[in-house]
Amino acid sequence: MLSDLGEDGEVVFVSAEAAARARSTAERLASDLGDTAEDPCGSAAVLVSALPAELVRAVHRYGNAGSPHDVLLVRGLLPHMGGLEATPGTATPSALGQDGQVAELLLLAVLSLLGEPFTFASLYEGRLIQHVTAVPGREDTQTSEGSQATLDWHVEDAFSADRCDYFGLLCLRGAADVVTRVAAARYVRLPAAVGQVLRQPRFAIQPDEAHQARPADLPPTSVLSGPAQAPEICFDGVYQQPADPGDGEAAAALQALADEIDRVAVGLVLEPGDLLLIDNRRVVHARTGYQPRYDGTGRWVLRTMVCASRREHRRRGGVRVLPAPSQM
Ligand SMILES: [Fe+2]
Repeated sequence: MLSDLGEDGEVVFVSAEAAARARSTAERLASDLGDTAEDPCGSAAVLVSALPAELVRAVHRYGNAGSPHDVLLVRGLLPHMGGLEATPGTATPSALGQDGQVAELLLLAVLSLLGEPFTFASLYEGRLIQHVTAVPGREDTQTSEGSQATLDWHVEDAFSADRCDYFGLLCLRGAADVVTRVAAARYVRLPAAVGQVLRQPRFAIQPDEAHQARPADLPPTSVLSGPAQAPEICFDGVYQQPADPGDGEAAAALQALADEIDRVAVGLVLEPGDLLLIDNRRVVHARTGYQPRYDGTGRWVLRTMVCASRREHRRRGGVRVLPAPSQM
């Protein structure tokens, strides 16, 4: 399976010529940026002017009106990656070479069309761009370092009201046997009584173990919210439970939702140069398990998250790195 996507407005192709033009501007900007402490998002904003018009148009349309599965797949963004270094065996590698730096800036540039990039201080050293890659000893974790274990359905950082509105996954190296799965909340069909339970604040969520911090007390939250025809979803198949352990109704509703998510899911195999944009308020995602290689040729994906509201971003202090959960 290459991709179950492809409906109108869901996949956009970047030509080799357009990608080469964007790359040459990205190279210059990355070189100017060097290892300064400057906010790379400023350079990414400049890079937007070198992105192909059809890509900018598609991302704008997606941010404004969504897409059939509320994701957007951009193909062909990185056609020339011959100089890319070996896939790291850590989520926190040292500075990348030119190919990697170009990829990082392009990822930030496209994501900046949807909002302001940010992250949490407790997540992978507070890096704005995170590395999704298999890490030795972490094969069974429910984090971006995992591999052999299926990464269960979730939204990013479900525990936090400040979770991202969108995030992007830019594939540097793919793996043919790894399927990224997405399920749009709008396709979920549940009995009315079950839907009502999921709309009540009867659920508790903890941060996943990638966060190096634990909040003391988080208020119970609902799983579904918003209009019935375009619901928002805050679901985590592993870290979310009924706030009251004896609430069997809430537990059954979570299970019914998980079953329904499986039913409406679509999948795709990320190829090098693919950028998958996901609406983190309307879509849950997952990944199939796979055998890691650990020989430098394994799967390697870059991830960045954005806050879609610049006003909300400013309310949070306009910072790229939000405080760790324990300090919230
Ligand atoms: Fe995720």
